[in-house]
Amino acid sequence: MKFFIDTANLEQIQEAYDLGVLDGVTTNPSLMAKEGIKGVQNQREHYVKICKIVDGDVSAEVIATDYEGMIREGEELAALDPHIVVKVPCIADGIKAIKYFTEKGIRTNCTLVFSVGQALLAAKAGATYVSPFIGRLDDICGNGVRLVGDIVRMYRTYDYKTQVLAASIRNTKHIIDCVEVGADVATCPLGAIKGLLNHPLTDAGLKKFLEDYRKVNG
Ligand code: G3P
Repeated sequence: MKFFIDTANLEQIQEAYDLGVLDGVTTNPSLMAKEGIKGVQNQREHYVKICKIVDGDVSAEVIATDYEGMIREGEELAALDPHIVVKVPCIADGIKAIKYFTEKGIRTNCTLVFSVGQALLAAKAGATYVSPFIGRLDDICGNGVRLVGDIVRMYRTYDYKTQVLAASIRNTKHIIDCVEVGADVATCPLGAIKGLLNHPLTDAGLKKFLEDYRKVNG
């Protein structure tokens, strides 16, 4: 499974990259706003900075919600750097835009996906990635991980090449759950990725090894 980091924070992206396990980055307008990045020019420069840190796909989301606007914006975003993947919401004009981008060889991430039906349309339009939102489904008493598994099975049954990118991951357990249902990618906050390292037996075992070493070596 590939690891993407779900943030626009350059320090966190660098930290995940330095860990040696980072395959890409996803951003969205809320994550860009969280970093206080205002204005189209500054936002585009920020995407380029992210692309310089990672050697992998970087999702940049369109703000337009109409077909022509998405095409214009998506083409501008894709021209910023070869790592850019154009992130498009799962609405009718978005599906049409994904179809257009696919034919132009521009890679896409279909976002805000909450059902197998939406994932089917994204795959038929040729999306590179589909992003089911786990945490937000769990928030309304749905089952986000089950949706990820359902989409994975549907894509395998029909041999769709679209990769399932589990999004809205809130904790380390979500990552493990995504592994179990066969997600292609998990996009995670840095804390959830680092949480994979935690085990009390690792800490206790390391402490004992070092104590025993010092007993004989001083
Ligand atoms: O990957 C999408 C993500 O940024 C949304 O996460 O926690 O706002 O539902 P969240």
